[in-house]
This record gives sequence, C-alpha cells and structure tokens, in this order.
Amino acid sequence: MTHPVTPEISNLDQIASDQWLSLATAAHDRHHAWHTPTLANVGEGIAQLRTVVLRSADPDTRILSCHTDSRSPKVIQLTEDSRFSWHFYDRDAKIQLRAYGNAWTHQGDELARQRWQDGAWRSAQCYRTPLAPGETCTEADLDINAPVDRATGEEHFVVLACEIDQFDWLFLRVEGHRRARFLWEAGRWRGEWIAA
Ligand SMILES: Cc1cc2nc3c(=O)[nH]c(=O)nc-3n(C[C@H](O)[C@H](O)[C@H](O)COP(=O)(O)O)c2cc1C
Repeated sequence: MTHPVTPEISNLDQIASDQWLSLATAAHDRHHAWHTPTLANVGEGIAQLRTVVLRSADPDTRILSCHTDSRSPKVIQLTEDSRFSWHFYDRDAKIQLRAYGNAWTHQGDELARQRWQDGAWRSAQCYRTPLAPGETCTEADLDINAPVDRATGEEHFVVLACEIDQFDWLFLRVEGHRRARFLWEAGRWRGEWIAA
C-alpha cells in the first residue's frame, strides 16, 4: 500500500500534536501499541531498558509517567542521572517514537496517593514484598499467597514522571521513510526533517 503525502506526514506542527494525541490515547487504552513502551536510562555504565506501562501523557505539561517501586534500580540510578528515554513502536501505524527528558519521582505526595487510590493499589502485591526488585532471593520468595490488600505496598509505590524536551518520529513508508526531530524551544515544538 502506498502512502499519500498528507499533513499527517508532511506538516511538522501537526506531526508533533498528533504524537501527543496518540500518547494520551495510549495511556488510557491498554490495547494501544504504545501502552507498554520501553523506558531506558544509563546506569552502571550501560543502557538499561525495561518495559513499563504508560500511565499518563499530558501534551500541555509534556509529562509522561509510569508507576514503579521506589527500591528499583532505575529509581536509584535516577539520583545520579535523571535523563530517561522512552521508545514506542506501533506496527500497524508504522510509527516509531522516541522521547527524551528529565525524570523525577513522586512518593507519598498528593499525586502518588491519588494514583494509588485510582487503581495502582491493584498491583499492591508487587510493592508489598520486603525484597527490592532485582535482589537475589529463593524460588519460594517469588510466590505471594496473601490476597491483594490496598493497605499494603503503598510505602514503596512511586510515580516516575518525565518531562519530555525532545522526540524523534519515524514513519515507515515505501516511497521513503519520513523522520523528524522535535525540540522544545521557546515554548513550542520546533520540528526539523532528518535523514531516515
Ligand atoms: C508488560 C510489562 C509491563 C511492565 N510494567 C512495568 C511498570 O509499569 N513499572 C515497572 O516498574 N516495571 C514494569 N515492568 C517490569 C520491568 O520491565 C522491569 O522488569 C522492572 O521494572 C525492573 O526494572 P529495573 O531493574 O530496570 O528497575 C513491566 C514488565 C512487563 C513485561
């Protein structure tokens, strides 16, 4: 199938706003290809990659967020280097998006409490364990027999928020891939074409 040159792939301003619209949709639609991005940072001298669930994407604040454990390596590494990258790929839409920004965490504050109440407590089993993610343990330690209890685990729950200041959009096309870089400058997304 050929792709006509439409504003969706030729107007840089529209491309920028469309990506944010897709991100916002993906955060609320668990079937969206962008709902489970790869989140990356640099830790221990190497790229650290992991799948996370995209929990929010706000075009106005440019903040993406996910939920995680305050004891996880990525949160500990964040204090050394707050640069994080997000990778999204939608096979059907033929779009790869990479977003870059500075991250921080919310723990025990209003936002974290709200997210916990709104449903993060359903993952209480992940956060209630006395073991930090990545810690060596026994096989038996990995089985949790107690029922989910929203009163447990919140002490290790954090919202990892990341303010995006740059992204890289790639649209695969038989007639020549389209690729553009976007930088947040002077209060707007400034896009430029780059070779694919
Ligand atoms: C589909 C899927 C979704 C996941 N979602 C999250 C998530 O939202 N937050 C999270 O911390 N880990 C999530 N994980 C687990 C991470 O990929 C990773 O194993 C864990 O966070 C430890 O990463 P770290 O050692 O780099 O901190 C998910 C894994 C999969 C396969």
